[in-house]
Amino acid sequence: MTGLTARVPAKLNLQLAVGPPRADGYHDLVTVFHAVSLFDEVTVSRAGRDAVTVTGEGADLVPAGQDNLALRAVAALRPAARRAGAGEAARRGVRVTIVKRIPVAAGLAGGSADAAAAMLACNELWGAGLPVPQLVKVAATVGSDVAFALLGGTAVGRGRGERITPALAPATAYHWVLAFADGQLPTPEVYAALDRLRAAGAADGKARPGRPELDPSLMSALRSGDARLVGRALSNDLQAAALSLRPSLRKTLAAGLELGALGAVVAGSGPTCAFLAANAERALELAVSLSGAGVCRSVARVTGPVPGAVLVREDDTPEPPAGPPRCPP
Ligand code: C5P
Repeated sequence: MTGLTARVPAKLNLQLAVGPPRADGYHDLVTVFHAVSLFDEVTVSRAGRDAVTVTGEGADLVPAGQDNLALRAVAALRPAARRAGAGEAARRGVRVTIVKRIPVAAGLAGGSADAAAAMLACNELWGAGLPVPQLVKVAATVGSDVAFALLGGTAVGRGRGERITPALAPATAYHWVLAFADGQLPTPEVYAALDRLRAAGAADGKARPGRPELDPSLMSALRSGDARLVGRALSNDLQAAALSLRPSLRKTLAAGLELGALGAVVAGSGPTCAFLAANAERALELAVSLSGAGVCRSVARVTGPVPGAVLVREDDTPEPPAGPPRCPP
C-alpha cells in the first residue's frame, strides 16, 4: 500500500457561546458542533521528508510549508505512534495531499478537518493502531476544532472547543444551505473584534461576559428533532464581530430569512452564512433563490449531522519509477 485517503467534513456551530479572553489568549467557550456533508479529501503516502500539496477550492491560501496544520498534526502524532509501537514507519517522512472543497478561513474549520484526516490516515499508514480516544487527545493539542473533526456528528465542545461530548439526539437529518462569501475572515481577528466590541459595550450586552453556558432551548430542540425549533435556537457570539468586520453579511442573513429559512447564523468566525431549511426541497428552493439574489459568491446544499474523518481508500499503485516521464506510444 502506497497511500491512504481519508474524507473529512466541515463543521457548523449551532451555538457558540464565548467567554472572556484567557491568560493564554484563547477564549473559554461552550459550543454545539455539527458536522455537515461538505468534505475535503486527504491522502498520505511515504516520502523522504514531510511535505504537503494542496489543490481545489482556495488551495493557494493554504500554507504549503511545515506550518501547514495537517503537517503539524502529523508531527504531533509521531511520538504517540512510536510509543504505540509504530517504530521505523513513523520515523519516515509523509507526503500529505489535500483536495479542498471546504473554503479556506470561512468559519467551517477546513484546516482543522485536514489535520484530523491526516492524523487518521497516518495512524493507519504507520500501523500505529492508536484508538480514537488517543487520537482525540493528540488532536486537542493541534487546534481547537481538530478533535471534533475526528468525531463528527453533533457534539458539545468545551474549553477552547477541544473537549468534546457527543450530543444525545434522534437521528434527524437537517438540510442546510451554505452561502459562501468572497474573501476570508481570519479567526483570531474575529475573536479580537468581539473583545473590542464587548469592551465598548457594543457586542451583546456582555461587556464582562461570564462563564459561557449551553443553551437549554437548543438542546431540547435537538432532542425533539424539530427543525423549526432548531432554526429558532441557532446562536453565535462571534456573529456580531464577524458582521462588524464584514457588514455586507447582514444582507445575506436577512435575505435567507426572507426567502423562508427556518434560521440563519454566521458559521463559526465567518464569513460563510448557514441557513436551515425545513426539508431537501425547501433547501433546493432556498439555494436557487439565494444564488439569484446576489448576496453571496456561491451556495451549497449540505446535510448534517455526518460522521467525522473516515478512511475511504487505500492506493496500491506502485511508486512511479525515478527518471523523466515517458510519453505513451
Ligand atoms: O485553536 P485554533 O488554532 O483553531 O485557534 C485559532 C485562533 O482562534 C487562536 O489563535 C485564537 O486567536 C482564536 N481562538 C480563541 N478561542 C478559542 C478558539 C480560538 O480565541 N476557544
